[in-house]
Amino acid sequence: MKNTLIFRKIIQGGMGVGVSGWRLPRNVSMNGGLGTVSGVVLERLVPRILQKGDPGGHVRRALSHFPFPSVAEKIIKTYFVKGGIPKGTPYKAIPVFTVNPNHLLISLTVCSNFALVWLAKENNSNPISINYLEKVAMPHVYAITGAMLAGVDYVTMGAGIPLQIPKLLEDISEGREAHYRLPVIGKNITSYTMSFHPETFFGAPLPKMKKPGFIPIISSNLLANIFVKKLPAGSITAFVVEEPTAGGHNAPPRKLIFNELGEPEPIYGEKDKVDYAELASLGIPFWIGGSQASPEKLAWALSIGASGIQAGSIFALSDDSDMNEILRRRIRKQGYEGKLVIKTDMRISPTGFPFKKILLEGTISEPEIYESRKRICDQGELVSPYERPDGKIGYRCSAEPFDKYVAKGGDLKDAIGRGCLCNGLMTTVNLGDEEEPPIVTMGDDVSFLPFLMAHAEDSYSASDAIHYLLGN
Ligand SMILES: Cc1cc2nc3c(=O)[nH]c(=O)nc-3n(C[C@H](O)[C@H](O)[C@H](O)COP(=O)(O)O)c2cc1C
Repeated sequence: MKNTLIFRKIIQGGMGVGVSGWRLPRNVSMNGGLGTVSGVVLERLVPRILQKGDPGGHVRRALSHFPFPSVAEKIIKTYFVKGGIPKGTPYKAIPVFTVNPNHLLISLTVCSNFALVWLAKENNSNPISINYLEKVAMPHVYAITGAMLAGVDYVTMGAGIPLQIPKLLEDISEGREAHYRLPVIGKNITSYTMSFHPETFFGAPLPKMKKPGFIPIISSNLLANIFVKKLPAGSITAFVVEEPTAGGHNAPPRKLIFNELGEPEPIYGEKDKVDYAELASLGIPFWIGGSQASPEKLAWALSIGASGIQAGSIFALSDDSDMNEILRRRIRKQGYEGKLVIKTDMRISPTGFPFKKILLEGTISEPEIYESRKRICDQGELVSPYERPDGKIGYRCSAEPFDKYVAKGGDLKDAIGRGCLCNGLMTTVNLGDEEEPPIVTMGDDVSFLPFLMAHAEDSYSASDAIHYLLGN
């Protein structure tokens, strides 16, 4: 694929769950950046959008272009509610992922990823990428098929070492069965390979699909070298290097300290630093993410051999983001006034990776709200497959009820301090259950706000953000 990406100095990072839906990436790409749809958990978000009445008819419009109409119609028939479900009505259950998902869940995953990419690309000839977390691996074969059916241009992936993706992209684009091997915690079973042959599933060959470019998200030279050494030449289109100040999940640090409350805090030292000159010598274009959202940082990135920057927070707080509007307004105000507190929480994410959270009233970041939330795991996106005593594969999440986690062989120590990111993050984009409190992630640096806002109540668009970053 011709690499036109290098002409785009700004990548809008994928922001789950649902913060970078389709409007934000669409507007970013139409304004000269690379817009990234968040592909994480879409099979749970899209049916909820349909149950909220699909305002504007966007999802239904996208699905009317799905190449297998009967599959899309079944999704709409199952989940669409004209005018939306009344307040207080719980959402319909959506099957939870296992290594053997049922027909409905596969259809939901393919169609949901198709729909969002299709919408981001509707009447838009600029490139669009989609982002997944390697660790949330069970949907990969289906989700990526859906995104590719809609013509996605790039796949970006971090939170793990996604060495299997280039082969998967090739297999899907050539109509072959796609595979993804995921780790299983066990003595006899240590991995399981999920397979998907789209032609068999849909009962007909798929339309011709282009192979998207692949952009791994890395945090070290070591990782960059692993990709280059282990994969055939040409497998990697570009790297995004994420500094530990970036929003969302971060790479684990080499060193931890314990603060006065006895909580672990990361210390990112010299050894965690990326040697950009060495990275540049690999000859693969790279973008730098994490507190880079200023014209000066962009100029610095270009000066050390990067092709540009990846930014998230500046777009998450813009008018084009799908984060709840009231939360966004409060965060912008606090950020503008220099009062925003962002913390790297080493415990909260069931993935085990550090996770940046804003200390914000009304969210799980408040100890009373965290404690008062009933532990429950009903979305199941962050579960770890494990080998059960009967030799079958079970699923456990360290944020599920303690007794259940321990009964499944989990260590109580792993469960303490964990929070349900699935439910919390869905509430943050207005698609959560009513009783679930939100959680908001953000990068360490929001010093861009005063450059974009005239006063504490002001706001700005994604296009304003791009003009600011490009120094226009
Ligand atoms: C609200 C939010 C959600 C994010 N979610 C993801 C995600 O799901 N996957 C991912 O790879 N990165 C995620 N990130 C990281 C961004 O893609 C981007 O790399 C990062 O925000 C850059 O740092 P900055 O926020 O300082 O600009 C998220 C960031 C934010 C602010």
